Amino acid sequence: MEVLRTSQPISWLDDLGADGTVIHPGHELFGKNLAGCELHLPGSSGSTVGSDRIVNLAVHGHAPRRIVLGRVDPITMWGAILGGIDVEVEGAPRKEVDRAKIERLGIDPEIADLLARAGEILGTDEFIPADHVQIAGVSYKTITETGLELRRHFASRFRFRSRNVTINPAGMDLEDWREQGIPDEFAEKQREVIEIYLRMGATPTVTCTPYLIGSMPAPFTDAFLSESSVVSYANSVLGVRTNRESGLSTLLFAIAGYGPRYGLHHRENRAPRLGVRVRCELRGVVDFGLLGYRLGEIARGRIPYLTGIRDRPTTEELKVLSAAGAASGSIDLYHIEGVTPEERSGLVPLSGIEEWVDIDRSSLDEVKRHLNTGSVAEVDLVTFGCPHASLEEVHEIASLLRGKKVRPGVAVWVCTSRAVKDLAQRMGYVDLIETAGGHVVADTCMVVAPIEQMGHRTTATNSGKAAKYLPRFCQQKVVFDSAEEIIRKIVAAT
Ligand code: F3S
Repeated sequence: MEVLRTSQPISWLDDLGADGTVIHPGHELFGKNLAGCELHLPGSSGSTVGSDRIVNLAVHGHAPRRIVLGRVDPITMWGAILGGIDVEVEGAPRKEVDRAKIERLGIDPEIADLLARAGEILGTDEFIPADHVQIAGVSYKTITETGLELRRHFASRFRFRSRNVTINPAGMDLEDWREQGIPDEFAEKQREVIEIYLRMGATPTVTCTPYLIGSMPAPFTDAFLSESSVVSYANSVLGVRTNRESGLSTLLFAIAGYGPRYGLHHRENRAPRLGVRVRCELRGVVDFGLLGYRLGEIARGRIPYLTGIRDRPTTEELKVLSAAGAASGSIDLYHIEGVTPEERSGLVPLSGIEEWVDIDRSSLDEVKRHLNTGSVAEVDLVTFGCPHASLEEVHEIASLLRGKKVRPGVAVWVCTSRAVKDLAQRMGYVDLIETAGGHVVADTCMVVAPIEQMGHRTTATNSGKAAKYLPRFCQQKVVFDSAEEIIRKIVAAT
């Protein structure tokens, strides 16, 4: 068996092509095909639907045969377990886990077996109630037919025992998908995915910002969340304790009503190991997105502690910081001096920080240059709301578009939750945006909707996370800038 080694994490969602070849030009394994190999990697970065991607590769014979992880990584681990791939964490002995003890919690033997196999690798036999679960892997585009088949199987046998189960965005606006231009065949599959989750007992939040619509556990309690931006925001800004679970593991925990206690559920694992001095003033969500992106690049699995963020950041700024850091690296938790709740409660020891680095304006400018791969003249889709827009953000876009007309040939999507869209409608913001030629799109986003199938080639965004995934996962050129700048360039005054 060929042995391939990398010191870089792999983003299973967008670093690999459908045949298992690494397509990320900046990756050490660029051009290598992973099918049938023994792969040594530190862990995964980015999207939590990576597990579905691994299962898909395995089903089609394009996955590694054996995976050796440098650290505990639930995304890769769950993909390997469900894809029948041999997986271990280098140097970590397997924990003895008693399946019967898990079954005594009232958990079905099929699910108990999967939880026990995970517990052996995660090093825990402690399973705690999973009262709050957020499931990623809702868009048919991300889970594909293999993922739908897996979910059909679980739905044919089980219902959710967890009380609060929310779900991530789908691949289309569930009400206005025809107007959005979604192909019929895609819509049919997408509807089935949603029906499965609802039949099993999920709440139809269909958003990656459940915390903006009232669905979030109390601070300093445990949760099982699998949208990477929600994980980072919940851990850091809300003080909730969750690991970056995979879409598939949260599905299993919601069925079991229990999940494993390990990693970030333990206070001693939440201490920072990287110190970051922010040496420039941060201006709005674009700068916070750039900072998050840069943090993800330098963190290499370490929890960062940030100083130098003087103004109290807004919810929207922390939302994009969390999302970009989780997408470009795998930041599941960060602390900000004087801002985040654990730091303010004196729960963040600095003694474990092994390195301090500076981030200044030039580092942010460099990230911005790297994210911009397209030109304004080529833009055919303008998108805001990654993560899903707050009411305040929809208001801001409506104000910027008031009295303007979007250039012909350019679609504008403001992506948000159905709940926020309803409020925006009552506030008159939706009308303002539609009058200018834009749309407030609910339940979906620019990354998980099939925009490449809809003919879009160049997308403008103000989100660092979207700018990360659009090129390889959606085959887009990207224009990255502030909402104000983007709108200024794609509208004409009436
Ligand atoms: Fe949400 Fe889509 Fe961005 S799921 S975080 S809007 S990529």
